[in-house]
Amino acid sequence: MSHYSSNEVLGRLDRAQPDALLALIGLHAADPRPTKIDVGVGVYRDAQGNTPVFRAVKQAEARLMAEQDSKAYLGAEGDMHFTQQLARLVFGPDIAAAPGLVGLQTPGGTGALRLGAELLARAAEGGTAWVGAPTWANHVPLLELAGLAVRTHNFLDPRAGDLDFGAMLAGLADAAAGDILLLHGCCHNPTGISFSCEQWDALAELCLFRGVLPFIDLAYQGLGDGLDADTVGLRRFLARVPEALIAYSCDKNFGLYRDRVGALWAWTPSPSIAETVLSQLCALARVNWSMPPDHGAAVVRLILSDDMLRGDWEAELGAMRDRMVSIRKQLGAAHPRLAPIAGQKGMFALLPLAAGDVTELRERHAIYMAPNGRINIAGLTDVTAARFVAVVGSYLDKGA
Ligand code: LMR
Repeated sequence: MSHYSSNEVLGRLDRAQPDALLALIGLHAADPRPTKIDVGVGVYRDAQGNTPVFRAVKQAEARLMAEQDSKAYLGAEGDMHFTQQLARLVFGPDIAAAPGLVGLQTPGGTGALRLGAELLARAAEGGTAWVGAPTWANHVPLLELAGLAVRTHNFLDPRAGDLDFGAMLAGLADAAAGDILLLHGCCHNPTGISFSCEQWDALAELCLFRGVLPFIDLAYQGLGDGLDADTVGLRRFLARVPEALIAYSCDKNFGLYRDRVGALWAWTPSPSIAETVLSQLCALARVNWSMPPDHGAAVVRLILSDDMLRGDWEAELGAMRDRMVSIRKQLGAAHPRLAPIAGQKGMFALLPLAAGDVTELRERHAIYMAPNGRINIAGLTDVTAARFVAVVGSYLDKGA
């Protein structure tokens, strides 16, 4: 007689909530209203509302099609030439060549974060990961699922809608040796805050003084002030701290969202620790995805190693950045409560709206934004920004 009943194993599961941010993609697509505005999920859009493939990506893909002569496995590290080229872009030539830096290719920035979190759960067993509130909606569940305890600190002055660095340092007063501090490398998601060089220096002091390991999420290099400008503070920071992990995403700055291109680096005090850490990362990668997907990383490698493709990629990225800066200025000038947006960086801004307002904006006005009031700046054009400010401004006035 069988002991198997229909709810024996899989039937025990509770239904998981759909991801509230990704759910917006379907909701917006199904909305027939011609005036709808999508400032939800973080994808770049041009002035026509499209998310085109970068010209340099198209050319690199064509070259790859013509020249790639094998798709044999590369190993758990993925494409090491990609990781090395990318390291020079991120860290500059000196740090990229340092023997204490090791890295590997990952499936997107999320893969890098996941791998880093698993490594830290092993290395800093019982340690706490400190995360600023608010943060990207995936950070806390990802860290917790990897086995880390999470505590939050405030860094935002809600009235000013901007960074309160003093509050951030005070909020980290309980961080203890062996803890982890998650930091956004630039263009914070959801607030658009980038630390100044002096703030990076103060954070390095904090990490050194408290014995805290920094875990940097760098997903928007080039979308704030420029490729080097967005990482200059981080480079200074790394020159002062002995250890760090850096998770990187090529989703936004190469427009490779669905190709899942990322990397994880460990900054360590010695070549022998670096080697050990890399061995652990490869072992973790092997059980998670065995090897990362190749195509997008090969495209990035080709772009970064060819002067012409690289120049064109940088030009297109610069135009994207200029468009977002211009929308930021337009929003900042249009309403006093949006003023901080003009000086903040990258793709995202956080509006001081209640959850009920966000739902009402979607249902009554066809304006789609993340549940916490985050908007994707690139979802607006010169034309839609005017309607957006008129509608959203009335909600902001209500809450003022
Ligand atoms: C976002 O924050 O909108 C993007 O990074 C997409 C995602 O994976 O959440």
